Amino acid sequence: MEANNEKIKQVPQEVFQTVDAVKLLEQAIPFLQIQMEYRCALMEIETKLKVLNQEFNMNFNRNPFESIKTRIKTPMSIVEKMKRKGFPMTVESIDQNLSDIAGIRVICSFPDDIYTLAELLVKQDDVRLVEKKDYIQNPKPNGYRSLHLIVEVPIFLSKETKLKRVEVQFRTIAMDFWASLEHKVKYKKNIRNPEMISAELKACAEIISGMDRRMMEIRNEIDRLD
Ligand code: GTP
Ligand code: MG
Repeated sequence: MEANNEKIKQVPQEVFQTVDAVKLLEQAIPFLQIQMEYRCALMEIETKLKVLNQEFNMNFNRNPFESIKTRIKTPMSIVEKMKRKGFPMTVESIDQNLSDIAGIRVICSFPDDIYTLAELLVKQDDVRLVEKKDYIQNPKPNGYRSLHLIVEVPIFLSKETKLKRVEVQFRTIAMDFWASLEHKVKYKKNIRNPEMISAELKACAEIISGMDRRMMEIRNEIDRLD
């Protein structure tokens, strides 16, 4: 680390004023601008969900979600995806073609909270549903479950209002538990018995889904006695 810092200090100042450096900066600024815009869109959606949580807490003494995680796609993974999909590498093309630069994961306690929250979010005046993939009703062949929405939301900048897309993933704690572990193991190379591992992962997803249903029934039973 220190050696690197020393090397940077040794670079003559003129280098930072070369044509190449100026070109690089010219390209970087619009990129920083779109990153900023997606960060704003994430804040909008996160706030909307937190408002709903506050209201549920006040009125029904419960929280429909346990936690929210937000992330902005890294420049490396933007470049990788643009290349993989064969899109031109311009800021406009990134903005047009990628719907998951801004991502938000909402971890709910029970499966029915997912649909309640998703419905309340998309029916808001300034939120437009662009795409819905219901991997809870229709799990992926590997057992993956979550509700994915692409929503469009306005961000109010000083000189203009822009519409930005955000990918919202809704999951229960149990679905998140499975997805996190599956994500960890799936990148291991040279697995000796991939068919057996896939079958096992799928079987675990079914067990977890059954538990989600049973926990919801327990909650319903307790609520009924109230
Ligand atoms: P992309 O072009 O990559 O966006 O494909 P897509 O739009 O078909 O993706 P999809 O909406 O199905 O899923 C996008 C995100 O969901 C991924 O980045 C993961 O976060 C999550 N995801 C989807 N499938 C899986 C899976 O099988 N396992 C895990 N752990 N996560 C998944
Ligand atoms: Mg996607």
